[in-house]
Amino acid sequence: MINVAIDGPAGAGKSSIAKATAAEIGFIYVDTGALYRSVALFALENGLDSDDLVKSLDKINVSLEFIDGSQHVILNGADVSDKIRTAEVSMNASKVSAIPAVREFLFGLQKKIAAENNIIMDGRDIGTVVLPDADLKVFLTASAEERANRRFKEMTDSGVTYEQVLEDIKQRDYNDMHRDISPLKQAEDAVLLDTTGMTVEEVKNKLKDMILEIKPEK
Ligand code: DC
Repeated sequence: MINVAIDGPAGAGKSSIAKATAAEIGFIYVDTGALYRSVALFALENGLDSDDLVKSLDKINVSLEFIDGSQHVILNGADVSDKIRTAEVSMNASKVSAIPAVREFLFGLQKKIAAENNIIMDGRDIGTVVLPDADLKVFLTASAEERANRRFKEMTDSGVTYEQVLEDIKQRDYNDMHRDISPLKQAEDAVLLDTTGMTVEEVKNKLKDMILEIKPEK
């Protein structure tokens, strides 16, 4: 199987680019942030703090379904794909993702999907921790302002301003890069792609070219 790992900060364009590229080349796109978001949603809905969440992990059943190439996140039987896209869930996902037991809980699921499919998987620690032997690793980034602007446009909750989104992005960058476990960082063998000022089409074509150059060794 061919595994492509894409890491980078929030709003760098990982999901739009990975999704569009995967569709063109017939790979499955796996958005691992959605897994952390669904655990965060579970904690919020049940009013759990970090300790209670760790004790309740055995009550969480998260799985991914791929319908017409698009990923759906199923949390305890319910499709939560839309519900996990709020600012509140984003911030809480950043918090719960710093809990080692939560990362451990989601690790096996990510490994399994990658072992069974040709995938483009995006997240924060895919190239460094989840798939250290990925065939291609890309670290996708862009300026905080450009990322906030992109995120602002895809928010599903109303009443949130651009300034709040920018603050949230900066706060999450800090959290994601400074946590003790699996912090966001570029893998040594990852290709750096700064997408500031680039269109989705341009980045997608670049990524596609890199994937088409992979010579599978397996
Ligand atoms: O990519 P996203 O914004 O949907 O991710 C939500 C949060 O989940 C993000 O703040 C960091 C965390 N995350 C992570 O720690 N590791 C991953 N592989 C993916 C996401």
